[in-house]
Amino acid sequence: MRLLHCWSFLSLVALIPQATYASVLAIDYGNDWIKASLMKPGIPFDVLLNKDSKRKIQSVVAWKKNDRLFGSDAFNLAARFPSDSFQSVKLLDAAPFDSEVVQYYTKISTATVVETPRKTVALKQSDGTEWSAEELIAMQFAYVKQLAETLAEEKVRDVIVTVPPYYSQFERDAIADAIEIAGLRTLALINDGTAVAINYAMTRTFSVPEYHIIYDAGASSIRATVVSFTTATDPKTSISGTHLAVTGVGYDRTTGGVELDRRLRDILIEAFNAKHKKDVRQDKRGMAKLWKESQRVKAILSANNDATATVESVAWDLDFRTKVSRSSFEDACEDLKPRYAQPIHDALKNAGLTLDNITSVILTGGSTRTPMVQNAVRAAVGDDKIALNVNADEAAVLGAALHGASLSRQFKTKNIKVTDIIAHDIQASYFAAATTSNSRPRSITTLIFPAGSKVGTKKTLTFKRKEDFAIYLDYKNSVAPGFPTRMLEAELIGVTEAIGNLTERGATDPVVKATLTLSESGFVSVTDAIAFGEIKDDSITGKLKGLFGKGSSSSEEATESAENTPPRDTDTTSSTSSANATPSAEPEKKAAPVENTIPLNISISFTTIPPMTVDEKKIARGRLRAIDAEEAAKYRKEEARNTFESYLYRLRDLLDDDNNDTPFKKCSQESERKEIAEKLDDSFQWLFDRGDLTETSQLLDKRIALETLERPIVHRYQEIEAFPQALNNSQMWNWSTRLFLTEARQNLTAEATADLPSKWTKEELDALEKTLKEHETWLATWVEKQKSVKPNEDPVIETTEMKARAKVLETHLQKLWKRKVPKVKKVKPTSTSAEPEPTNGAGEEQAEGESIEDPSAGEDKQVPLKEPEEEKTHDEL
Ligand SMILES: *[C@@H]1O[C@H](CO)[C@@H](O)[C@H](O)[C@H]1NC(C)=O
Ligand SMILES: *[C@@H]1O[C@H](CO)[C@@H](O)[C@H](O)[C@H]1NC(C)=O
Ligand SMILES: *[C@@H]1O[C@H](CO)[C@@H](O)[C@H](O)[C@H]1NC(C)=O
Ligand SMILES: *[C@@H]1O[C@H](CO)[C@@H](O)[C@H](O)[C@H]1NC(C)=O
Ligand SMILES: *[C@@H]1O[C@H](CO)[C@@H](O)[C@H](O)[C@H]1NC(C)=O
Ligand SMILES: *[C@@H]1O[C@H](CO)[C@@H](O)[C@H](O)[C@H]1NC(C)=O
Repeated sequence: MRLLHCWSFLSLVALIPQATYASVLAIDYGNDWIKASLMKPGIPFDVLLNKDSKRKIQSVVAWKKNDRLFGSDAFNLAARFPSDSFQSVKLLDAAPFDSEVVQYYTKISTATVVETPRKTVALKQSDGTEWSAEELIAMQFAYVKQLAETLAEEKVRDVIVTVPPYYSQFERDAIADAIEIAGLRTLALINDGTAVAINYAMTRTFSVPEYHIIYDAGASSIRATVVSFTTATDPKTSISGTHLAVTGVGYDRTTGGVELDRRLRDILIEAFNAKHKKDVRQDKRGMAKLWKESQRVKAILSANNDATATVESVAWDLDFRTKVSRSSFEDACEDLKPRYAQPIHDALKNAGLTLDNITSVILTGGSTRTPMVQNAVRAAVGDDKIALNVNADEAAVLGAALHGASLSRQFKTKNIKVTDIIAHDIQASYFAAATTSNSRPRSITTLIFPAGSKVGTKKTLTFKRKEDFAIYLDYKNSVAPGFPTRMLEAELIGVTEAIGNLTERGATDPVVKATLTLSESGFVSVTDAIAFGEIKDDSITGKLKGLFGKGSSSSEEATESAENTPPRDTDTTSSTSSANATPSAEPEKKAAPVENTIPLNISISFTTIPPMTVDEKKIARGRLRAIDAEEAAKYRKEEARNTFESYLYRLRDLLDDDNNDTPFKKCSQESERKEIAEKLDDSFQWLFDRGDLTETSQLLDKRIALETLERPIVHRYQEIEAFPQALNNSQMWNWSTRLFLTEARQNLTAEATADLPSKWTKEELDALEKTLKEHETWLATWVEKQKSVKPNEDPVIETTEMKARAKVLETHLQKLWKRKVPKVKKVKPTSTSAEPEPTNGAGEEQAEGESIEDPSAGEDKQVPLKEPEEEKTHDEL
């Protein structure tokens, strides 16, 4: 199944590397598990494996004294270090300290929750160190980044992260901040249901439009996403593509695997307390152990009717064992039953559809494996609609990776267009300008992006204002109990001057236009603001009109009220403010000169849950870097310590060997061995006494000290080993040179007699002879001396010197024999003998040692037969 999956993606995704070679990381950040995938040209598209080759990583960070651990290592620590094991951090993402979800967190977790200066949540280690939720999430992202970089063998920067569709701006901001703290760059945030839909669409085409529901039961929540799929061929390009549009979402933020675990743990707690007449809730370790056990039991109960919970030494040294039946578990969750399928109904309602319109309900997320959850969905939608055709664990991350790849524009992916929506009503409000100086300002509210609005759109609001003012962006309703509604406040600065300027220049009814952007990742903000006025001519009438417009302050309120009616500003920039006091503004705007538009400054401020500031992020990044550096140093020291230790053991083995014929024994002297043995004992002692406290550099120093003693012995041995070959080499060149000289001298004599040109002069041969003699003498002398050297004494000649000397001889010899055969020799039989001689001499000199640069290229063609002969000579040598 998995292989099939990967194969089909490979065939669909042609990876086209472009100029910039950045890979794209996708992270499906779940409450219990992290899944990741890396898109990089040349690397098979698949889920990223962790260090134990597992396809998913537990979302846990934990400390064991000073060691930071991730994944299952961290998860397994919870029972021993309940205050230093941080699970389910996702629940705390952007949560206000006094929100309901934080209350809930304290029920399921043994970690200590504290409030940050930003009024959000941090978790506190037992040593007092506090980490904000963003920092803890960032650590997990950084851990994944490191895994990805190991696989990619390069830096990884761009990341796409999945978020639940109901995530508010606060939560999205916190994830984006965590990404930044982790040293990554947000390519996009993608709603997890949408990511699964992309994964679903990768391998399918939809000739007739189909609606499917992605039902995702995760650890922290349940969500349903209605998606329409249409495949069409563009008549112009005849490229076929699939359009995937989210048309409705439904969710339950508090029903999920974690809640089921909690119910199950409560069963265990009650059983323990009843049996032992003690309250295990008082014991953090015991609670952490029961939490872990409840997860295990839940998994067993998914496939069996009964399970036995067994925990050793839960608390007060009491072992615990109890039987849990699936039915008792389900009874404990009875009240949740109607909530499992409710998100489906909500999503359908929001999409304006009924079950009849739905082709299938695609199940994904770990909690769909729990029978009561799946049964509830089956009962709600009918067995025939249930589809188990995506990988429940991996569809989201693979879909996200493909989307990320298409966004990065560095990969050619299947043509899928995605339209997503937001889940919450977003409204803009502002205070109307006071009509009289002491009247109370009236607040005006506009539903600017209703729930279900498409992301990646803009809207423009038009105001008749003459002074600076603020626009407030709010959720119409709180996104979760205890969360604020106010997202941000955008102050428009410079209105007074700009409107004054336009009015002075004769603009009639100048207005302020503010652009509100809803980004693809679901962030909303005021991104642009201008003052705009239609300037007529400079004539008196024009000026009068301007004055008239300026004076009609009573019309201002009306404009704003008109603005207030939602239908008027439901569309994007182009059609905005058609109902405004300046209906003619649009057509004239295009023709009007640029001066009609004056940009305004926007100052955004956050009064509720602010995203982290640049400085806060810098500090957080610094804290993470500091741990990374500490861990790297620790790792290096550990390595140095291990290497040193095994070096010591190796040396001891060499010394202790009973066999006196070992190279080490043969090449060393008694006194040397004694010195090493003493130093070795010292080093062992030092390592065991002080090794843990020492610095890496000291470990290295100690090792170098020993190596210095060992080195001469090793050197002797290496020399003994290398000597025969070096000697052979020297003798070979000695012998070859001798052979060459004998033959060359004979030829020289013969050529002189026949009055033929020669390749060499007598002087040249004499010079070679001299080099040879020197070499022979040196060799004879020193080889003789070396013979009397004992293996445990330093050699009198070094093989490196022998090789260097042989090289001198070799070079000298090569220079002569490489020389071209004089062409005259060939030419002579056909042409005259007198002329070529000088040419020969010249050619000879230039070609010396460089046969390819023979200047007489034309003659080269006449010599080809000669060259193989020369080579043969070389071989013989
Ligand atoms: C949904 O189903 C109803 C009833 O079958 C039908 O009238 C309607 O056109 C369908 N809507 C869509 C968008 O397919
Ligand atoms: C707007 O911001 C720019 C750059 O910060 C500044 O130079 C300018 O003075 C500001 N204008 C107003 C009206 O505040
Ligand atoms: C209005 O603005 C324009 C361009 O910014 C500037 O050149 C002009 O002097 C301003 N006029 C007044 C009256 O402030
Ligand atoms: C010397 O080298 C030759 C050729 O490479 C080889 O046949 C011979 O065995 C070598 N002798 C020694 C002592 O290494
Ligand atoms: C000496 O002359 C013979 C015959 O021309 C030739 O084959 C041989 O290569 C020559 N030797 C040298 C060292 O040039
Ligand atoms: C060098 O070669 C010559 C001739 O083969 C030989 O007589 C002599 O012993 C060699 N010298 C050495 C030092 O090997």
